[in-house]
Amino acid sequence: MRYRSQWVAYPYFVVALLLYGLQMVFGLLSAAKYLGPDPLINLMAFDVTKEIHTNLLIVWVLTGFMGATYYVVPEESRTEIYSVKLAYWQLGIWTVNGVVAVVGYLFGWTEGNKLLEQPVPVKLTIVVCMLMFLYNIFMTIRKSGRWTTTEGVLVSGLALAALLYLPALLQFHNYTVSIFYRWWTVHLWVEGVWEMVQAGLLAYLLIRLSGADREMMEKWLYVIVGLVFIAGIIGTAHHYYWVGVPQYWLPIGGFFSALEPLALFGMAMYAYFAMRRSGFAHPNKLAIHWTVGSAVYTAFGAGLLGLAHTWPAVNKWTHGTLITPMHGHSAFFGAYVMIVLAVITYAMPHFAGREDSSRESPMGYWAFWLQLSGMFGMTLAFATAGIAQVYMERIMGVGYLDTQLKLQVHFLMLIGAAIIFTAGVALFIWDFFRAVPIRTAFLDNTSGDASVPVSSVA
Ligand code: HEM
Ligand code: HEM
Ligand SMILES: [Fe+2]
Repeated sequence: MRYRSQWVAYPYFVVALLLYGLQMVFGLLSAAKYLGPDPLINLMAFDVTKEIHTNLLIVWVLTGFMGATYYVVPEESRTEIYSVKLAYWQLGIWTVNGVVAVVGYLFGWTEGNKLLEQPVPVKLTIVVCMLMFLYNIFMTIRKSGRWTTTEGVLVSGLALAALLYLPALLQFHNYTVSIFYRWWTVHLWVEGVWEMVQAGLLAYLLIRLSGADREMMEKWLYVIVGLVFIAGIIGTAHHYYWVGVPQYWLPIGGFFSALEPLALFGMAMYAYFAMRRSGFAHPNKLAIHWTVGSAVYTAFGAGLLGLAHTWPAVNKWTHGTLITPMHGHSAFFGAYVMIVLAVITYAMPHFAGREDSSRESPMGYWAFWLQLSGMFGMTLAFATAGIAQVYMERIMGVGYLDTQLKLQVHFLMLIGAAIIFTAGVALFIWDFFRAVPIRTAFLDNTSGDASVPVSSVA
């Protein structure tokens, strides 16, 4: 860490991780409701706990993205952040807005559009925060007059994410029209512009952790982002199969979304080969785990498990069943949770003014492997539940609730795996707060060689 203002990333990571912990509480509550009886039904029913669970996910991941950007941009552009004060104000407003939204959901203040349930004033405040963030980042880059491809991809991803939130502000009375545009935000976020953010952060981490040649890494970054776009934009149509639009969307959606995994497998190979060439030599091995892990788990959760139900002939049976959260959990975890945890793990020694190898604690590895195995178990639990559900409900014609009763054993497995997962999250958070940050500590590792000693600045 070379620039004093990079420190502003730390409070962003604090907020992100606290919200991550809270997201687990609402995940466990949502899962427990499947087993019943539900003593909390009048206080917060399933729809409320689930919307809080998913909204917390989106908010904390975005907080992590913004923190990561404040960390990355000064190093890439070789300058201090334009306004640290603005970054703090933005975090304050963003956090208060998030708390208001969650409390509002508990009292039924919701727009009810899955994943975009935020009421209009909350949405408008999100837009204001995004504008503050983008202004600060653009002014930083403008001030320095220098930008790299890596940060260009990262910042363009976030700017486009803000732009694509605008369709979420529109309200339609016709359900088909409404759902048609909902995917412009939801799908184009997770299978388009957020992928740019992941790929940008991945490139940044790989260059630092492997010392690989920047020019070569950035050339491949263009290829991966290009592939994501070619398939991902038209791939939106894999959500148009059964929503009341013309039938030609079926082959278009099937074909283009089936191409999407290519880019994701390419990304996994990109990460693995970059690290292998360097002999995995960087002292922050835990950050290597999270970084390569993110690319590989994305190929599995988003690529493979997305492909599993993206073809119309399959999706006809699986649409809206527990197969969807099977894929949703593992895709989100690999692509966005793991990349944020990778940046945090990489940056932590620098906030604490310690050597890169200081992350080598058993607790850090437990946090990694418990989350990884817990998420794998949860994915299997949702998958087995989903397959049984499709067979009983959609093929045998058993009623929805009768089917749910038969699925309870899978929910016991889900909760078992989720407890393992939550233990991993708790250890990560504990490990994070254990390392006391020092505001004046700077570790000059910008050469890519992290063994450079601490140089402290008053
Ligand atoms: C990191 C990338 C991805 C993430 C985070 C992600 C996440 C999600 C989530 C959360 C949903 C549920 C959305 C909702 O119902 O509102 C979903 C649905 C879906 N995803 Fe993905 N996804 C990713 C990539 C992919 C890819 C690459 C494919 C195809 C190869 C794919 C195929 C699908 C399909 C077909 C559905 C609809 C399921 C249904 O009909 O119920 N996803 N995804
Ligand atoms: C303690 C761990 C967790 C538990 C017990 C849990 C449980 C659940 C349950 C029961 C649902 C509702 C599924 C349904 O609609 O029937 C859900 C939805 C969801 N959760 Fe989790 N979850 C956990 C952690 C996570 C994590 C770490 C992520 C992100 C990586 C995540 C992302 C999601 C998403 C995107 C949905 C919406 C999926 C969809 O609508 O298809 N959850 N979760
Ligand atoms: Fe999609």
